[in-house]
Amino acid sequence: MATFRKIGILTSGGDAPGMNACIKAVVNKAYALGIEVVGIRGGYAGLIRGELVPLTQQSVSNVIGTGGTVLYSSRCPEFATEEGMRVAVETCKKNQIDAMICIGGDGTFRGATDLTFHGIPSIGLPGTIDNDITATDYTIGLDTSINTTVAMIDCLRDTCESHARINVVEVMGRHCGQIALYAGIASGAVAVAIPERPFDEAAALEKIRALRKNGKRSMIIVVAEGLTNPDGTPYAETLVSRIEEQTGISTRFVRPAHIVRGGNPTVRDRTTASDMGSRAVELLVEGKSNVVMCELDGEIRAVDIAFALIADRMYKNKLKEGDLDRFSADELDAMRALIDKRNREIDRLYQVAADVGF
Ligand code: F6P
Repeated sequence: MATFRKIGILTSGGDAPGMNACIKAVVNKAYALGIEVVGIRGGYAGLIRGELVPLTQQSVSNVIGTGGTVLYSSRCPEFATEEGMRVAVETCKKNQIDAMICIGGDGTFRGATDLTFHGIPSIGLPGTIDNDITATDYTIGLDTSINTTVAMIDCLRDTCESHARINVVEVMGRHCGQIALYAGIASGAVAVAIPERPFDEAAALEKIRALRKNGKRSMIIVVAEGLTNPDGTPYAETLVSRIEEQTGISTRFVRPAHIVRGGNPTVRDRTTASDMGSRAVELLVEGKSNVVMCELDGEIRAVDIAFALIADRMYKNKLKEGDLDRFSADELDAMRALIDKRNREIDRLYQVAADVGF
């Protein structure tokens, strides 16, 4: 058992609905165990600048259902430098912060592991709408963002039906097509295009022509932002002109972008955030750190951060020389199993989208 008097908490990277529910859970659990909590404003940049705010049960009492992050967020390249880390650790020491909970994506976890190695035990919580962290089946924010996306597409559907149009919708998900897949299936999109799988444009155009011939008026196509043309420009916009040129059907383009990162979190995001937040505090008290809370087959489990980061690189084909050296054969097998699982999930969703999209 570790004795902590004060825990720091921050949110970093792209915000996600449910981050506030995490903050509230951490604060309430910590106070129940007699531990003080201090919030760091603006992510790792706030740790470097020393922007701290005391968090009490009262100050977080109404945040569970709010979007964004009450602690604010940023992306902070300076934190990856020796000097940035030195100043951040100094902030922790000066303010008697014994441990940190860092909510965000893979960049946030790199920060948490660096802090741990510099003497501040830290735990990561997965908060990003993209669901792009290989070690966990679920990241806080995905459910809200897909529900918001689907609500927007339902609106588009009305006007598309009135005008017998097609709407191409480009959704967020930096390198990951999960938002596109879920939103596409749930909105009855006739096609979904994602970076993880080759998109058969000719087949999609053929399908569009056939559906129109059969009298279908409105059609939705969902494209993940990570799918780009060879020159790096967004494929979604190219697809709009190809559809118009080759089918003659009036086609509009929509990019909801950051809109789907806001909004009140769904029950799924509030509950998962609460569960992960509370469990993270328990783990710190049990003396565990340098882990990321993951949801695996419906259970919340702690996964070593280095394992999570390298599994991610393995999945994204971004391994660097020596990355695998510190892992046992069993751990490497476990990484491969996670990757297989993720690939199967993408294949399954992609197939469902293709089978039912009409
Ligand atoms: O990481 C979440 C995410 O919303 C991605 O889907 C998107 O590509 C990126 O962040 C946008 O980043 P920024 O908020 O810096 O524009």
